[in-house]
Amino acid sequence: MSDAFRTAYGRPAECAWHAPGRINIIGEHTDYNEGFALPAALPLGVTAQVAARDDGMVRASSVQDDDVVTVPIADLAPGSVQGWAGYVVGVVWAFREAGHRVPGLDIVVDGSVPIGSGLSSSAALECAVAGAVDDLFDLGSDPADLIAVARRSENDYVGVPTGALDQSASVLCREAEALFVDFRTMRTRGVPLDLDGAGLRLLVIDTQARHQLVDGEYARRRAECSRAAELLGVPMLRDVDDDELPGALGRLTDPVLQRRVRHIVTEDARVLRTVQVLEGQGDPRAIGAYLYASHVSLRDDFEVSCRELDLAVDTAMDSGAHGARMTGGGFGGSAIALVEDGDTDAVTEAVMDAFDAAGLTAPVVFAMQPARGAHRLEG
Ligand code: GLA
Repeated sequence: MSDAFRTAYGRPAECAWHAPGRINIIGEHTDYNEGFALPAALPLGVTAQVAARDDGMVRASSVQDDDVVTVPIADLAPGSVQGWAGYVVGVVWAFREAGHRVPGLDIVVDGSVPIGSGLSSSAALECAVAGAVDDLFDLGSDPADLIAVARRSENDYVGVPTGALDQSASVLCREAEALFVDFRTMRTRGVPLDLDGAGLRLLVIDTQARHQLVDGEYARRRAECSRAAELLGVPMLRDVDDDELPGALGRLTDPVLQRRVRHIVTEDARVLRTVQVLEGQGDPRAIGAYLYASHVSLRDDFEVSCRELDLAVDTAMDSGAHGARMTGGGFGGSAIALVEDGDTDAVTEAVMDAFDAAGLTAPVVFAMQPARGAHRLEG
């Protein structure tokens, strides 16, 4: 990586940060409804190396791409740079918008999260750059500031209307833990996820069906949720309790909105139950039923799954997984499956065979352990 910086710019980097992609164990599309989620960081991520300049320019290059983008910081405006570099310079723009002076810098990014896999390659990119820029210029940001700057890059600079799930996970997750997030208070706590100790594995199945959140479906779901909250007279769907659900559904006439509400309300409840199991003395296998129920809800009520995700989940379940579900925004991307250590190969093979038989591109399957959130790389 240090070679990459020297190759690109002919001088050494001054500091480097790594930030991970994420899976979400449960709690999908709840973040922008001020509900709950339980992500964990992937061992895959983005490394950003930086060095200062004093001429007001930002130069960005990537180990994965030949283009070098060079722009005056003063000229940065939402959408002014497209593609991966937009997420990078968007962070610089967001720091400036937050009142920081950024005199200029060179950046090299190196990523291992597959793009469009639903594993938050963009949040990993934003958070690695945010950590590195903050460190380089001693801007004094706390984790909440880094999350905010990374989100502004995504929401306001690139223009994708996501919630805070991905950036919170990328900044705050810790090794061997999942991260419980309450998106109303932004309070978080680590939840032990010792799968090894329980003889379990968490498989990530990247279906290779590429998702695009910019295409309007994600924004439509957000709009449907706020419309439903408005009709129900609550600030956010988070405010509808589990036991109030039948009454709330009865007050809505649009079947689409009824389905959206049912997903959000039951999903929030499933997150809380999952956390209860993992924090109690219970067997982590017990969360499997919540994972699968979450998938069914996302497929039938929130309608964000797709053929490849359903095939991955159903095949994993049929071949012995305790639970499986799509993870992330949906419309393609990845699924996760909770399996016995000894069943890993059988489940993987069954999924590969099912995709082959359906004439689909072979998925990429790997087992993960929860990794560490964004941090400075020493040396
Ligand atoms: C995407 C968004 C997140 C979240 C998930 C769905 O990953 O970036 O904010 O809404 O979808 O849970």
